[in-house]
Amino acid sequence: MLRKKLIAGNWKMNKTPADGAALAAELVTAAGKQTDVEVVVCPPFTALDAVGKALDGSTIKLGAQNLHPEASGAFTGEVSAPMLRALFTTHVIIGHSERRSLFGDTDAFVNLKVLAALKNQLKPILCVGESLAEREAGTTLKVVQTQLEAGLQGVSKEQAATLVVAYEPVWAIGTGKVATTDQAQEVHAYIRGLLTKLFTEPVAQRVRILYGGSMKPANAPELLAQKDIDGGLIGGAALEARSFLDL
Ligand code: PGA
Repeated sequence: MLRKKLIAGNWKMNKTPADGAALAAELVTAAGKQTDVEVVVCPPFTALDAVGKALDGSTIKLGAQNLHPEASGAFTGEVSAPMLRALFTTHVIIGHSERRSLFGDTDAFVNLKVLAALKNQLKPILCVGESLAEREAGTTLKVVQTQLEAGLQGVSKEQAATLVVAYEPVWAIGTGKVATTDQAQEVHAYIRGLLTKLFTEPVAQRVRILYGGSMKPANAPELLAQKDIDGGLIGGAALEARSFLDL
């Protein structure tokens, strides 16, 4: 089955609402009508509203970078799935390696976030990936398996079809070191195999598996030509219209 490619921009902690809206407006002018590739931009919470307005009427979708599993309550500093939905957010990045390593997001907490997103009709972009030490120790596939299976506990077959998975080797994020196409394709095929076991073959064939980690216009074509690489989660190269549009 043909999967539409998906290019998602993870702006991380960059851009004010005004800067974000300006970038979104540039993207809309250049690519706001195309439907060949699905495009999602994920600004910080504070810019979601302004960016969402700038994207209004275009084919470019709005994503958040995180959420809290509870709908509301005493969780100072957090933002919930219903709050994101109220801003017309359609996607949410969950379990990014920066959340895991800097903010203590465990597999169990990532799982609660995935379930909360799905319950609120948000499409999770679930991130998995090994550190350099784990790759060198030969445990890449094991690490990815644990993160994926734990992150997807309790997800139904029907829900799984809306899922997006991002394979992001931690050592390739923001470092300029990109995984080779063989390294990436091996893990992507492995992830598709795990999804097949969890959710059946037809469902696994529908899930987009993105590559993330120093993806740039120069290295993207070769990565995106691989059988199981269905798009990219882009950090640095998503902050400027030119490089993001090239992707
Ligand atoms: P990068 O970030 O493209 O800057 O490596 C990717 C990511 O962290 O999602």
